[in-house]
Amino acid sequence: MTKTIKKAVFPVAGLGTRFLPATKASPKEMLPVVDKPLIQYGVEEAVAAGVEVMIFITGRNKSSISNHFDTAYELEMELESRNKTALLNLVRNIVPPHVSCVFIRQSMALGLGHAVLCAEPVVGDEPFAVLLADDLIEDGDRGCLAQMVDVFSQTGCSILATEQVPPANTGSYGIVDTDGEGKLVEVKSIVEKPKPEEAPSNRGVVGRYVLTSKIFQHLSQTGRGTGGEIQLTDGIARLMEKDKVMAYAFDGQRYDCGSKLGYLQANVDYALKHEQLGAGFEVWIKNRFSS
Ligand code: G1P
Repeated sequence: MTKTIKKAVFPVAGLGTRFLPATKASPKEMLPVVDKPLIQYGVEEAVAAGVEVMIFITGRNKSSISNHFDTAYELEMELESRNKTALLNLVRNIVPPHVSCVFIRQSMALGLGHAVLCAEPVVGDEPFAVLLADDLIEDGDRGCLAQMVDVFSQTGCSILATEQVPPANTGSYGIVDTDGEGKLVEVKSIVEKPKPEEAPSNRGVVGRYVLTSKIFQHLSQTGRGTGGEIQLTDGIARLMEKDKVMAYAFDGQRYDCGSKLGYLQANVDYALKHEQLGAGFEVWIKNRFSS
């Protein structure tokens, strides 16, 4: 089995109800953090990890995602004629030329596990990554997915990114029970969104996975679980009966941009470190809170 990851799946068919009305006609993955949509951060993280094929599992109202990663002829011509070279380069280089984007329509909203299963015809018999764009992970020296790809190349096992979550919030995550507390440990069990009193730990799965293609056969046999949906977590639980799955405590700061609070925190932190805006924003924010 190859131990490199060349394909990444981005499930983007969700309705984004937590951000209504902002997400009534436009996908939550296109919400900007400062000046870039969430989905682009995810794609950049995947490119940095060596991924060459981005597979988007889309639904209704998601055409702006495919447009974002496509050529925008009229915009480019306009910028060119006005000699706006920096902006032209910005819109031309959303993805590097060696990267291709594939769009698959998930015609029924049957859940995250079902979305991942929709990618099978394109992923085939290769290990692959899954990235949930509303988990924004700040790239320190090495992005979260690049760290996981390194671990995968050493172990060949499926890997779940995890972090400690507040015990009261276990109901928002897949929660793992692991063999010890270390940075890279084997998962003994996994459960989707348990109540705090039923959670085996408070080690939560965040939206980065490296999975072997064996997950597909398990997902195809997984019935509806939590919330009446086919859960990726349940497919992983089945996979674990046969194969080793590891939990990896990644280095980096994660923002839960699926929640308004996490989204606002990401905007503040990314604005503070923004090349052009950072200094001015910091002055404004200090003045704002000094009186
Ligand atoms: C999904 C998964 C959950 C995981 C979470 C990470 O839930 O089902 O296991 O912990 O992503 O963000 P969602 O946030 O889509 O409800």
